[in-house]
This record gives sequence, C-alpha cells and structure tokens, in this order.
Amino acid sequence: MIGLRRLENIRNCAEDVLRCGVPGDLMETGVWRGGAAIFMRAILAAHGVEDRVVWVADSFEGLPPPDPAMYPADDGLDLSAVDYLRVPLEEVRANFLAYGLLDERVRFVRGWFRETLPTCEVERLALLRLDGDLYESTWVALENLYPKVSSGGYVIIDDYGAVEQCRHATEDYRKSHGITAELTAIDWTGIFWKKP
Ligand SMILES: C[S@@+](CC[C@H](N)C(=O)[O-])C[C@H]1O[C@@H](n2cnc3c(N)ncnc32)[C@H](O)[C@@H]1O
Repeated sequence: MIGLRRLENIRNCAEDVLRCGVPGDLMETGVWRGGAAIFMRAILAAHGVEDRVVWVADSFEGLPPPDPAMYPADDGLDLSAVDYLRVPLEEVRANFLAYGLLDERVRFVRGWFRETLPTCEVERLALLRLDGDLYESTWVALENLYPKVSSGGYVIIDDYGAVEQCRHATEDYRKSHGITAELTAIDWTGIFWKKP
C-alpha cells in the first residue's frame, strides 16, 4: 500500500538508528496486511539484530467508527465499513511467516488503539510509524507512544498529506507539546521527523 519511497524511508530511518545505537524497538500502529511491519522485521534480520523487537498494533478488524464527541475532526470520516481494511491477525501472522520472519521478535498488540496503547508493554522506541488515518488513531498513538521514542529516534506519519484529520492531529500534538523538530516530506503524503 505505501509504495517504494515510503519503504525506502523506513529502511533509512531504521538503519540510521542501528548505526547510531539509538535505543528502542520499532513499531507500526495501523498495519493492514503487515507489509511495512514485515519490512521492519526484515531490516532487523538483515543486520543480525537480536535485541530489538517489532511491535505490530492494529484492531485486525479495520478502523473504528468516528467518535466526534471526543474527536470532532473525525466527524464524517467513517472508514469502519471499508472491508478491504479488515485483515485478521491470523492473516497478518501468515504474511510474516511467508517471509520467514515470524518469531519472538514480532509482538502483536491487538485491539482499538484507545484501549491497547495506554497500557501496552512497549518500553522504548527507536522508530514509530503511524498509519491509522483518523485524527483519533493518530492522536492516541502520539499521546501514548511519542514519550517513549528515544532521542535520535524517528516518528513517521504515513497519512499526513493524504488525510486532513491525520495532519491536524499531528499538528495539534506537536503544537501542544512544543515540538518544533523539522518535518521532512517523503513523498506526496508521508512525512517524518527525528526526535531531538
Ligand atoms: C491504511 S491501513 C495501514 C497500511 C499499512 N501500514 C501498510 O503498510 O500496508 C490502516 C490500518 O489501521 C488500522 N487502524 C486504524 N485506526 C485504528 C484504531 N484506532 N485502532 C486499531 N486499528 C486501527 C486499520 O485496522 C488498518 O489495518
């Protein structure tokens, strides 16, 4: 789904944190069939890294309906009925397995982000990639996981250009937390920044 430029960006960010010894795991929130997360695990395998894991967070049943009472920006953005975005956990596991990359260094976090991310076992991240489309999905991921990103680590936002709600959540979070690190465009939609 994400194309070559955004895959290349994952590789560049992951290899930079490995090269620089930035502590922490790699994580994607919003994985669909698993492509980007499988690629993260492949990068660790290619470099023989055994002390980091890839966290794979999704409902594995598509997007939640919008909750405009909590997140007014999501009013009218209802992707919960989009069937092709519903990919069961078993299918994502099978996709990891097909690449020979399903092992104990892949950790699944199943459920709605608002329920799973506040208490998930993730301790420290070197790379955090967000791909959940909604304001809610972006905000909840940043609120719960950005504090766990190491200095020198990367935050990648897949939908920044494509989905206005995602862009607003990112801007609101950055503004309210005084984050001024420069945003770099990857392609027509993806952006990333390096945590100072
Ligand atoms: C656009 S797809 C992700 C594409 C994927 N990153 C890739 O590289 O192919 C969005 C995914 O986010 C998940 N998602 C979005 N919001 C969510 C939420 N609030 N809680 C759990 N899963 C969510 C959906 O289930 C879906 O799998």
